[in-house]
Formats: sequence, structure tokens, C-alpha cells
Amino acid sequence: MSRTLFSKRLELFPIAAEVRGETLFISGLSLNDLAQEFGTPLYVYDQATLDRNLQDYRAALSAAYPGKSGVTYAGKAFLCLAIAQWARERDLWLDCTGAGELSIAQAAGIKRDNVLVHGVNKSQADLQAAVAAAGTIVVDHLAELEKLSMMKRSGSHPFPQIWLRLRPGLAVETHSYTQTGQSDSKFGMSPDEIERAVQLCRAANLELSGLHFHQGSHFHDPAPLEPAIETALDLLDRLNRQTGWFPKMFCPGGGWGVPYHEDELPHPPVSDYIGLVGRVLAQGCRRRGLPLPDLQLEPGRSLVARAGVALYRVESVKQTDQRRWLLLDGGLADNPRPALYGARYTCLPVSAPERANEGPAWLAGPFCESGDVLIERLPMPAVQAGEYVAVPVSGAYQLSMGSNYNGARRPAVVWLNQGRSTLIQRRETLDDLIRRDLPLPDPHSGDAQ
Ligand code: LLP
Repeated sequence: MSRTLFSKRLELFPIAAEVRGETLFISGLSLNDLAQEFGTPLYVYDQATLDRNLQDYRAALSAAYPGKSGVTYAGKAFLCLAIAQWARERDLWLDCTGAGELSIAQAAGIKRDNVLVHGVNKSQADLQAAVAAAGTIVVDHLAELEKLSMMKRSGSHPFPQIWLRLRPGLAVETHSYTQTGQSDSKFGMSPDEIERAVQLCRAANLELSGLHFHQGSHFHDPAPLEPAIETALDLLDRLNRQTGWFPKMFCPGGGWGVPYHEDELPHPPVSDYIGLVGRVLAQGCRRRGLPLPDLQLEPGRSLVARAGVALYRVESVKQTDQRRWLLLDGGLADNPRPALYGARYTCLPVSAPERANEGPAWLAGPFCESGDVLIERLPMPAVQAGEYVAVPVSGAYQLSMGSNYNGARRPAVVWLNQGRSTLIQRRETLDDLIRRDLPLPDPHSGDAQ
């Protein structure tokens, strides 16, 4: 392929990706060797890329915002013990959706104060787990707040801090399935409901310490955050004058997008987004004579997506009248994003990735769905059966939304750091597929009587 196309594709890979000899390497490790050692489909995560992304967030926050600031990792993008440990070691907060993710945070030893629980419809079990183990609960609606007030009255101690989730009435530009800020969204409370919620917190003696909103996920233009921050500050100004309350923490969610495909390069840097948030929040507070709250951002994808690479084996090459199909050993079950959102990916062959292009290829998985096509119409070299291909930007919302469709076993996950590979999630086995299952009663067991 052309030098430009190749280097653009390589740019989407983790920061320490390179070609050595004729093979793609990440963090000093050959992707061919990793695929052979651990099998495919295989997901690898590069620690250096995770660290760089986090460093970019922290640097941009301290450059853009004069108040205190911090980062919460939105665990829904990808959560397992190792990534939670990574978050703990870097003193990140962890956003957990419900009791399940919370249990992973606890297993990793994340301290209570750094655990925040989200959810649009937290079950009683979610709420109980959050009250027992989280530092903060982000309340989605008034009925949930009432449940928490009752739990508080029944005497749990210490009780988490409460943040309220605002629905600012404006989403970011992204796929409609991942827009959340619009007025008819199922998430959050209207400004009027927030006013009511503040009163309820007071009456119930709940420690109300934050205001939160999240307008949607995977946006590239931060402009809609400006009116949303202004809406939030108008509300806070009003509340401050009426009740004297002002939040210690202000969180405009996460959602910053990443480039998945060479066509999306160059992509604006994260500092464009954080610069806007920091400036609008600081100026907005000053203009209204309000103090500066602590600014907390809540990214998932933009921390982990580029750190992850999916490796597949090309099982067969099939030529139909219209298409060249590269049939892979994974797809829909480990990455439902193309089928769900029409997400576009790219890839490189692991061996001789700079080979001349042969023409467009369609990369599809083995699953019984015509929608199981990971990549459509991608210029690719003449790849043979038995070769490995590497799909970059695979670290977010792939494994976390994966399934056992058609009896697929979830892939192994390997952590790469400074030339060392560590298995952090083993591949599921056939036994795992029936681990939860119980047999029907024996149809003959009643006959004997
Ligand atoms: N905060 C809240 C309250 C959220 O709901 C989300 C994502 C985030 C933060 C993190 O957003 P991020 O920075 O990762 O964009 N499955 C979809 C994405 C769903 C996002 C759900 N909420 C996808 O694959 O694109």
C-alpha cells in the first residue's frame, strides 16, 4: 500500500507500534508471536498508550482550568481486574455502572472515595452495593433519590456523597444511540427536577456534592458543551441564590471521540475539548460571581480505545462475483460496534503490512448474520488464509459489549508493557459456555412411583 496510507493506518495503533523486519510490533513484541502464543481472536492492551492518554488528559486539564481537576475512568468502555488496578495505581476515579462493575473495582482495591456509581435504572441491589462501597452515587432521577433517602434514614454509615445528573436538553453530535443529553433522553433530570432534588437532599440530610451531565459519547466537536455548561451554571446560580448550595464537583461527563479509520485523520487533540470545557466553566463562574468547582471529566473511549488492538486469523479468502471476503475467526461476538452503530474500522496484515494493495476487501466474522462484517471495502494487500490481521482502536466498547453468540468464547486479553506480555483475561473455554447451566429434571424420575 502507499506509504501515506500505511503510515496513517499505523498512526491509529498504540504509540509504540512499529514494523521490525517485516512484522508489526507493539511495545517491542511481535504481533505474530503473540497471536501464536495466545491464540486468536486476541485483544492486546498497551500500557504506554493508556499512560500517554491519561497524561494528555491531566496536562490539558491543568492548562485549561484554574481550579482543581481530576479524571474518572468510565469503566463501561472496558473493565477487568487489571485495568481497574491500572486505574488504582494512577489514582484515577472509577465510574462503575451498577453492582457488577462495582465488584470489579472492589476486587482491584480501589479506595471507596474514588468509586462513583452511575446508572439510569439502578436496581435495589445496585443501590445497596453502592451505599456499601462507593464514595459517590450519581442520581439519575427523583424516584431513585427517594429510595436513597429511605436508605439513609435506615442508618447506613458512612453514606456516599450524592451528585445529581442533569439533562441539559442538548446532545452532542454522534450516532443517535449514543446521544444522551437531549430533552427526550431517558437519562438525567430536567433543571426543574434538579431544583426539587436539591430540596430532597437537604430534607434527607444527604451530602450533595456534585452536578453531572453527559451529552453523549464519541463526539469530535466539543461546541455543544458550551451551551450545556451555561445551562448548568444558570441553574447553579439560581440554586445558589435560593438555597446557598453550590456543588464542590462539576462533571460534564465524558464522550470525547477517537479516530477509528484513516479517513478520520487528522483528529483534533483532546486539548481542544478540554480547553473549551475549562475556559467556559471558569469564565462562566467568574461572570456569575460563583466559586470555581472542582472539574472532573469522565472519559472511557479516549483513554482506552487506541491502547487496544484486536488480532484475528484469516481463516479463508473467498472471492464472490462482487467481493473479496477475508473470513476471520472473530467479529460480531467480540465487536458488535459495526453492526450496532455502523462503526468503521481499518486494519493491517501483521506480516509485511506495507505490501502493495490488491483492491478492496470485506473482512467478516464467522457468525450467522450477514451483519457480521467488521470492515467493508477496505483497500488491502493479497492476504492469504492463515495470516493474522490487526485491527487498531479496539480497546473500547468491544469486549465490554461482547457476547457468546453462536457459542463464541470470549477472547483472551494480554497486557503489553515494556517488552513484556501478561495474560490478564484467559480465553473462555467450552466449559465456560455451560458453567451457569443446569439440566432439566429427569423425565423418568417420577415414573418409578
Ligand atoms: N459518563 C457517562 C455517564 C456515560 O454514560 C459514558 C458512556 C461515559 C461517561 C464515557 O463515554 P466515552 O468517553 O467512553 O465516550 N457503546 C457505545 C458507547 C456507549 C457510551 C455509554 N456511556 C459505543 O460503542 O460507541
